[in-house]
Amino acid sequence: MLNGEKVVFSGAQATGNLTIGNYLGAIRNWVELANDYQCFFCVVDEHSITVRQDPATLRRRSRELLTLYIAAGLDPEKSCLYFQSHVPAHAELAWILNCFTYMGELQRMTQFKDKSAKHEDNINAGLFTYPVLMAADILLYQADLVPVGQDQKQHLELCRDIAQRFNAVYGDVFTVPEGYYPKTGARIMSLQDPLHKMSKSDENPNASIYLTDDTDTIMRKFRRAVTDSEGVIRYCEEQPGIRNLIDIYSVLNGKTPQEVEAEFAGRGYGDFKTAVGESVAAVLGPIQKEQKRLLDDRAYVDGIIRDNAQKAAWYAEKTLRKVQKKVGFPERVR
Ligand code: TRP
Repeated sequence: MLNGEKVVFSGAQATGNLTIGNYLGAIRNWVELANDYQCFFCVVDEHSITVRQDPATLRRRSRELLTLYIAAGLDPEKSCLYFQSHVPAHAELAWILNCFTYMGELQRMTQFKDKSAKHEDNINAGLFTYPVLMAADILLYQADLVPVGQDQKQHLELCRDIAQRFNAVYGDVFTVPEGYYPKTGARIMSLQDPLHKMSKSDENPNASIYLTDDTDTIMRKFRRAVTDSEGVIRYCEEQPGIRNLIDIYSVLNGKTPQEVEAEFAGRGYGDFKTAVGESVAAVLGPIQKEQKRLLDDRAYVDGIIRDNAQKAAWYAEKTLRKVQKKVGFPERVR
């Protein structure tokens, strides 16, 4: 609890081109949560270097992501929006938690296995301890709730285990966080292969709607979206392409899939694809415009970056000092 509100923590990486999957599955939900909770939303740049990054690109994208948070509707005066690398407590707590995490636990992480298969030439220790840094992110802020996709569930479970293990030895130091897995928009599928999740690293640009796509591109990609030959707009397993389009349309218009089915009963796929495309363009257009305005206003964004990093550091250090004392580090002499 913080100022009488429960605490929410989440983070995202600024690597790859963000897609509407990232927006609908994460950021849009964050904006909702920010109304009811004290929120910390971090750009996890330290996690990003577990795979090789081009420095200039990482720096540019990190700033773009932070401004996107604001453009999408998060209020930087109320929610804490910041870069992980600006708050040293993350790396410091991660070190301590490394000493409370077993090799066997980390070896079981499916994301580690996947990523080491993909980056065989660079299976570094950071990739291995990635989930420990993530646990530090969360535990530093005594988060009650952590909104993440299903793909992060295993990491969150490990975070809970580490917190409970630490608490069992030293008393109630950490809040044990709950995962929060949003139902709507959590899984936007590829437009070209609707059995697979829309991914920012997909090689086929037609498979994903990027948050930077303009209206023409959005409309064209939806027109080309893979569907089926049933010819009926129905929300079912057998029509994964149509189901995905219904999911997108229903989240954006605040309707249930059944209401969408009813709205488009008797209409063709072409009409429906146009309607979905228009809904997406109507939401992304204003966000893109606001993001551009913010990127052009360096002084304003710099102020937010500085103030929010300070705010985050203040809370984080409170937890860190407590942990350092518990494990037996010498007291600081003033
Ligand atoms: N690992 C998360 C992802 O790839 C990002 C992340 C880092 C995160 N630290 C976090 C998410 C803490 C939630 C809480 O999606």
